[in-house]
Amino acid sequence: MPSIYSERLRLRAAERADIPMFVRWISDPEVTEHLLLRLPMSLAEEEIWFENMISRPAPEHVYVVEAKFTPESLDTQAQWLPIGNTAFISILEIDRCAEIGIMLGEKSWWNRGYGTETMRAMLRHGFETLNLHRIWLQVYANNKRGIRAYEKASFQHEGVYREGHYQAGKYHDVFLMSVLRQEWDSQNKVKGN
Ligand SMILES: CC(C)(COP(=O)(O)OP(=O)(O)OC[C@H]1O[C@@H](n2cnc3c(N)ncnc32)[C@H](O)[C@@H]1OP(=O)(O)O)[C@@H](O)C(=O)NCCC(=O)NCCS
Repeated sequence: MPSIYSERLRLRAAERADIPMFVRWISDPEVTEHLLLRLPMSLAEEEIWFENMISRPAPEHVYVVEAKFTPESLDTQAQWLPIGNTAFISILEIDRCAEIGIMLGEKSWWNRGYGTETMRAMLRHGFETLNLHRIWLQVYANNKRGIRAYEKASFQHEGVYREGHYQAGKYHDVFLMSVLRQEWDSQNKVKGN
């Protein structure tokens, strides 16, 4: 499948060569603080995860999020720098619903709009290429950055799993958020609908 482009980003298929980078990201407690990853993960475990991932249907494969990066030197061309990954976690074929996940593993790229832009690129891909009807996510109530990024990307709050997540001695609510195809179409003025 061709890569997915947006203004400052490229989403490309994950490769086996990315596995050590993924392990580096998920070994950082700040990155995983709001993820369902509680135990240290080895390279060998991540390799098994990768093999399982690529045996799943192609629309559920993981994409590496790459930011366009222009080095200081004028004679150097723009480069693509991997900053995270994203995927549709499960696509229900008849209902046309998919859950989405995202992790920006390079913390210096947080709070610069890249999470929002990644979600928008995945919404466009999900609705306009995969013909999905509803794209949804779960986010822990204490993940303020994530919630704000998803709101900016046009996700609506639709419900709460009360105290559905245990972390550091406390239970936290889990917010459900979603975007429907018709909401995406009306915001993006898709023709023919
Ligand atoms: C969550 C994540 C995808 C967000 O991506 P990002 O590029 O950092 O987010 P954006 O820059 O697009 O948007 C973040 C917004 O949250 C705001 N924000 C940051 N910290 C905040 C806080 N503590 N309280 C309220 N808002 C906050 C930012 O100011 C920004 O809003 P603004 O543009 O209106 O100023 C990314 O930080 C990440 O992957 N984190 C680690 C893993 C993770 O949490 N994954 C998601 C699990 S559901």
